Amino acid sequence: MLSKYEKELLVTIWEKMSLKAEDIGSDALFRMFTVFPKTKTYFAHIDISPRSPHLLSHGKKIILAIARGARNIDSLTTTLAPLSALHAYHLRIHPTNFKLLSHCLLVTLATEMSDEFTPAAHAATDKFLSAFSAVLAEKYR
Ligand code: HEM
Repeated sequence: MLSKYEKELLVTIWEKMSLKAEDIGSDALFRMFTVFPKTKTYFAHIDISPRSPHLLSHGKKIILAIARGARNIDSLTTTLAPLSALHAYHLRIHPTNFKLLSHCLLVTLATEMSDEFTPAAHAATDKFLSAFSAVLAEKYR
């Protein structure tokens, strides 16, 4: 459960991250590929070297999708339905991978936000990314 304060905090955080979505998203993806190399198998068709055009554009898409989720936090299931179907039926991403990317997003945010990454921001982001991931993975149930 996210409080009203946490929901507002999340909108603020992700709006800010949207301004540099390419950097934030590609950093998180690159962390995931480095720390959890098996995740690279899903991206065999694109160039995932650091700051490649494809990595930057994909990173941007991810951050904008998360920011959209933050703005629609009370209707995540409907907001994310097309993305959930894409990841489950078309891309066939195993659900455990969502936790891995969420973790890397948290690390990227912590380095990016520095002192603004307060315990409250950390906790709210962690809860939100868990909820987001649960929706992306729910088509598997
Ligand atoms: C595509 C978001 C997790 C693999 C996408 C797209 C978005 C997105 C917005 C583009 C959809 C489109 O073009 O219509 C997210 C978010 C995630 C997440 C917000 C979690 C917070 C993952 C994970 C993996 C993954 C964990 C695999 C380890 C892919 C792949 C594509 C894709 C392979 C297609 C890339 C391409 O061919 O350009 N994702 N995703 N995603 N996602 Fe995710």
